[in-house]
Order: sequence, then C-alpha cells, then structure tokens
Amino acid sequence: MSKHQPESHLYPTRIDIPLEVRSQIISLLNQTLAATLDLKTQTKQAHWNVKGTDFYQLHELFDVIAGELEEYVDLVAERITTLGGYALGTARIAASNSILPEYPLDILDGKEHITALADRFASYGKHLRAAIATTSELGDADTSDLYTEISRNIDKRLWFLEAHLQAPKVKEGNGVTTTPQKSAVLK
Ligand SMILES: [Fe+2]
Repeated sequence: MSKHQPESHLYPTRIDIPLEVRSQIISLLNQTLAATLDLKTQTKQAHWNVKGTDFYQLHELFDVIAGELEEYVDLVAERITTLGGYALGTARIAASNSILPEYPLDILDGKEHITALADRFASYGKHLRAAIATTSELGDADTSDLYTEISRNIDKRLWFLEAHLQAPKVKEGNGVTTTPQKSAVLK
C-alpha cells in the first residue's frame, strides 16, 4: 500500500472546477495558509512582548489583528478542503513553508515592533494581491474573492501600523510647515 501523500492528494468532489485548476489553487492556498499562521503567531509575539509608553494600546491592537488572522487561517484552510485538497496547517509546516522571515527576538519598544510587523504585513499583502490575480486568471472567482476580502483588510491594517511611523509635519515659530529632520517614514 502506497504512503498517503497529502500535498498531492486530491479528494474526488462534484465541484465543477477542473482537477488541474484545483491542484494549482490548493498549492497556492497552502502557501497562504503557512504565511497566515506564521503572521498570526508573529503578531501574538508582538502582543506579548511589546514595551514602552504605548504598551497598552499596542498590546490591544496587536491582539485584535492576531484575532483577524486566526479567522483567515480558518477561511483559507477550509477553502482548501472545499476544493478537495488537504490543508497543511501545523505549526511546523507553517514555519518551514512560510514566505515571511522569522520575527526578530531582540526588539522591545513599540516602534520596533510596529516596523517589524509593517514589513511583514507588506510582504503578506503583496502575496495576497498576486494570489487575487492568479486565482482570477484560473477562473476561480470564489477563491479570488476570498483573497480580496483578506487583502482589503490587510492593507487597512498596514495603514494602522504605518500611521504610528508617519511623523506629522510640525509648524515652526515662523508659521512655516516643515517635515521633521528625523523622519520615521518607511523607505
Ligand atoms: Fe493576550
């Protein structure tokens, strides 16, 4: 008896999407599942370890965002199984398949955590936007819509994170508005 190979195994289904198309979409969704699980745990890491004067509001914000990512984990995994695929959703698989870099363990203050998360949300958002296009080209409007739903909120969360880094312009004594010398705006 041959060994079960979950990554390549497709269950028979009456869904009217060709097997070859389902196979490509399931592979993409499993990449997303790994990245989403990874980003959720990284956001929790920030929730637990952030320090500084903005501790409480960042602690709360990171928890809200992690909760949203947990919902996306379930949405993505269940789209995989809906298409007849096998969801690869353990922590070990996520760690080895994620497109994201490991979270820095040597950071403490809020701005450092926000920057680390903003970098990762931008990478994740780029992956989602590419997946919207890929699944649309493959003719699976439902998976494309799922990606669009996630992408829209991830872009919004990136705004929430980056708003902490986008220093406002300051009015000087002469009434002239200038940008602060030390800009914290991301490159
Ligand atoms: Fe908590």
